Amino acid sequence: MSISLEKQIRFRKTFAIISHPDAGKTTLTEKLLLFGGAIHLAGNVKARKTQRYATSDWMELERQRGISITSSAMQFNYQGFVINILDTPGHQDFSEDTYRTLTAADSAVMLIDAAKGVETQTIKLFEVCRRRGIPIFTFINKMDREGKHPIDLMDEVEKVLGIEAYAMNWPIGGGADFKGIYDRQTGQVECFTDGLRKGHDDTRQTGHIDDPGIKEWIGEDLLQRLREEIELLDMAGNVFDQERVDRGEVTPVFFGSALNNFGVPNFLDSFLKLAPAPAPRQSNLGVLEPASQQFVGFVFKIQANMNAMHRDRIAFIRICSGRYERGMNVIHNRTHRKMRLAQPQQLFAQERTILDEAYAGDIIGVHDSGVLRIGDVLAEKDGIEFEAMPFFSPENFARVSIANALKRKQFIKGIQELQEEGAIHVFRDLNIGVEAPVIGVVGQLQFEVLEYRLRDEYGVEVQINNLPYEMVQWIPKDEEKIRILKESSMSMVVLDQDENYAVLLLDKWKANWLSERYGVEFYPQPLRE
Ligand code: G4P
Repeated sequence: MSISLEKQIRFRKTFAIISHPDAGKTTLTEKLLLFGGAIHLAGNVKARKTQRYATSDWMELERQRGISITSSAMQFNYQGFVINILDTPGHQDFSEDTYRTLTAADSAVMLIDAAKGVETQTIKLFEVCRRRGIPIFTFINKMDREGKHPIDLMDEVEKVLGIEAYAMNWPIGGGADFKGIYDRQTGQVECFTDGLRKGHDDTRQTGHIDDPGIKEWIGEDLLQRLREEIELLDMAGNVFDQERVDRGEVTPVFFGSALNNFGVPNFLDSFLKLAPAPAPRQSNLGVLEPASQQFVGFVFKIQANMNAMHRDRIAFIRICSGRYERGMNVIHNRTHRKMRLAQPQQLFAQERTILDEAYAGDIIGVHDSGVLRIGDVLAEKDGIEFEAMPFFSPENFARVSIANALKRKQFIKGIQELQEEGAIHVFRDLNIGVEAPVIGVVGQLQFEVLEYRLRDEYGVEVQINNLPYEMVQWIPKDEEKIRILKESSMSMVVLDQDENYAVLLLDKWKANWLSERYGVEFYPQPLRE
């Protein structure tokens, strides 16, 4: 095992930020990138966001709804660490995409608006994180605005999300009276200066809680209150336990204001100490150590038409072990064929840099001509597999058809590519061909995105007619049972992309009734031979 490889990996942190829309994810991402010198002017990420919006209606939809639909990966360096941030969609309708992105992350940062507390999307996204079992760090943002009391916020995190919260720092005052934060590990107070918004925060005023200057700065009353609250936390609060943090049982909580850069360096410094480096992964061949010599990566996301000018398709690969070198040959595990990773790229929003090397923990983007699928493994040797990506069963169904028959080819291509991205599940009605597939999605909003993207990226206008079904189940190929289900008004028999028989059902109750009445066996996932 090469020492330098091990060292490279030890100093890598790959995490995703999850939050309810508007909590400040873009702002925090931008500030983090700023500290790493990845961008020089505050506002860049937003500017990029706006540029992207301008190029596509799909992004316009994102803007109108105030939600982040796509996930992208960004990298920056800070104090000897290489940090990979994975952006996740904020809306629950895209939790399937979020989950896939989280498979590429070693930890998550949960951002909460201090005035709003734990919001609906936070709950859903948190659940997705919990399913992955990764450490979760909490940043409570917008402390410069009037918000809930920090004790209530901690309480809410614990009660609503069911995770223990450990305050790493503690806010002094709040809203108009926000004076700063107290670091519980060092006993240092960091004072908030209104108007730090200009850029890199190097004007932080700090001092020990017992320094006379601090009393002068925050005032006797607030200092007294701070001491009382700290005492309360020390006595009645949770105990810090790194192992429990690693298991996702305790979330370290930080307070701050991303917009003002305040509390962000404090958070980043602690986060880098506490967050895990790339972790070993379980494979069919045993545990894969990140520092093993063999390059192994897997595709966690595919995105077509990222650049409206080139209409290209990018597969995002999380490197799980070893080192990537420009132009290296790998084996594509599903087809057992050799592939050359000629021009992998690192992505920074819309800007791309050709990579010469990358290590376990990093995310690389490769051009894909339609060969790669989500979950595929690329490795130097053949035969390695990871646990399959979890299957999120669609809960909304619609028949999608083209308005103009002349666009048939583009329509089929669009549906095919969006299916390969994992954005939709495509089923074929036995009586109607590919011209009017039945599309299944997890959340209704995905239909809107489908409509926008087919129009914007493929030039196809479609009609979306919702169907009354709420669930899909797979069935064995038994002609008699298929005939019964075809005739029933409670179900619709379809074929999935691999020609497996499936049945759309009105609800769980009716599914049970059909199953009992006719002895049909239903399976929640496609049946494998
Ligand atoms: P998102 O990506 O999670 O959706 O949130 P985003 O960063 O876009 O932030 C949402 C709004 O919250 C923005 O205001 C942003 O400036 C504001 N914000 C973020 N962090 C803080 C903070 O620490 N304190 C305060 N007071 N506000 C914060 P906006 O008016 O929607 O946009 P803009 O006009 O400021 O760009």
